[in-house]
Amino acid sequence: MSEKNNTDPKQRNSGLSKSKNILQVRKKIALQGGGTKAIEKQKAGGKLTARERILALVDSNSFHEYDLFVEHAGRDFDMNKKYLPGDGVITGTGTINGHPICIFAQDFTVAGGSLGYMHAKKITKIMDHAMKLRVPLIGINDSGGARIQEGVNSLAGYGEIFYRNTQASGVIPQISVILGPCAGGAVYSPALTDFVFVVDKISKMFITGPEVIKTVLGEEISMEDLGGAKVHAEITGNAHFYAESEVECFEQIKSLVSFIPWNNKTTAKPFPKKTPRTRQYKIEDIFPSNPKQPYDVRDIIKSIADSSEFMEIQEKFAANIVIGFGRMEGRTVGFVANQPLVLAGVLDVDSSDKAARFIRYCDSFNIPLVTLVDLPGYLPGIDQEHSGVIRHGAKILYAYSEATVPKITLIMRKAYGGGYIAMCSNHLRADFVFAWPTAEIAVMGPEGAANIIFRNEIKNAENPDEVRKQKVKEYKDKFANPYVAAAYGYVDAVIEPDETRKMLIHALDISEEKRVDAPDKKHGIPPF
Ligand code: HXC
Repeated sequence: MSEKNNTDPKQRNSGLSKSKNILQVRKKIALQGGGTKAIEKQKAGGKLTARERILALVDSNSFHEYDLFVEHAGRDFDMNKKYLPGDGVITGTGTINGHPICIFAQDFTVAGGSLGYMHAKKITKIMDHAMKLRVPLIGINDSGGARIQEGVNSLAGYGEIFYRNTQASGVIPQISVILGPCAGGAVYSPALTDFVFVVDKISKMFITGPEVIKTVLGEEISMEDLGGAKVHAEITGNAHFYAESEVECFEQIKSLVSFIPWNNKTTAKPFPKKTPRTRQYKIEDIFPSNPKQPYDVRDIIKSIADSSEFMEIQEKFAANIVIGFGRMEGRTVGFVANQPLVLAGVLDVDSSDKAARFIRYCDSFNIPLVTLVDLPGYLPGIDQEHSGVIRHGAKILYAYSEATVPKITLIMRKAYGGGYIAMCSNHLRADFVFAWPTAEIAVMGPEGAANIIFRNEIKNAENPDEVRKQKVKEYKDKFANPYVAAAYGYVDAVIEPDETRKMLIHALDISEEKRVDAPDKKHGIPPF
């Protein structure tokens, strides 16, 4: 009797248990990854294994793995004799605090997590799922880059991934976690995604490693100094979040996922409404009465955001501008704020890049923008001019002008020159511009302005210092306030600082159904 027509339950069960055994054996072998020695090496480096990482990140019992039995396609250099479990990458679906996600984690214990043809196929398959299902994609990267033995097929694999990263950009959130030495192609996919997480001493990112640099240029540098976590969090800006350990990094990802929507057709899940911790964060205690004294703008954000919670992004890079997520009455808001503590909060090449990208992210994912303004303008200097401050500075103008999400602006103190326009002014189509009575909206600061427009009067005066002081005062009285801008309707309301949260919440409430018809075009050409 054929197995198909077998009606004897005993025999049927024995067939089932036989196949179950085969499955168990196959699974056991595949789940061993690169084997005990490679796993020991991974652990000695303070790293979790790829599977442990996924399990530490997703809700318990939520992870479902696919393509466990995929085999590599390498044929040259004796690769056909090698077994690479799962071809060095684990893929699947799960949830984070109930949010569905698609995920992959490269397994460094298997051929250094290098990317061959089937390894890439597994990644692109889960990426396609994420796009179809419209859920976030999380990639845990720990890879030596293109698998050298598979030649052009490895490069093709990367190309397929980059293409999908670009297609998915602005449709589903893409999160990259760098948890190992990521070289070559292994860093370009993260660079195309929305958020990059790094961990101290574990993450390394570079296009060409120290060996190549030494051979080609004769320069010597350690992996850490070339592309360690701190380098990317502080100097290059390639990383958005920095953690001391893998566990801390996973907590950060969970928090981020709670702020963002699953895709560009929805909004982030609302949270219970909570007032800020006003005893700890009082505007009158934070904001100095001396207009020349700096303060930490993050404390102002905490004075108005729900529960005083603020998830800062790129904290250590271009710290003269602050960006990040908070909530107002339960809804996610993207905050952009000049930071008077660093370079007086000026806009420069890096801060313009940082803010512009974040503004575009919020706009893509239906997150309203709240902009807090206090800056003397764009940073002058030869270095800035030669680094392309014209092109980079234009990005923030472009990003705000293009954004159609609700845009609410608060001018707290200085809003001078190009800085006034760039920080989501009425002219770039802010929906509401509020100003505190301390706001100074002018082409430039009183000292600079008086020196230019009253130059001759000051020069020819009997007592130039006295006349300069008098002219500075005249200019201040006339322009260093919010009322001239308010008289032209560029400021919608001059408000008391303690009214701020109430006014912002009302503006956000009333803008909920905002619709803007963009001109019919394929896409614009931002000053990349
Ligand atoms: C095949 C690789 C590999 C690779 C590592 N391995 N990288 N196999 N292709 N690209 C293998 C190693 O041979 C070794 O196998 C195992 O992974 C672990 O590697 P180790 O060198 O022992 O680990 P470690 O000392 O920690 O060094 C990690 C590393 C180093 C810094 C990543 O392996 C390295 O420099 N790899 C090459 C990096 C690189 O140049 N990649 C190509 C980039 S070009 P065994 O069997 O001994 O355990 C690229 C093109 C795409 O990616 C560009 C798109 C824009």
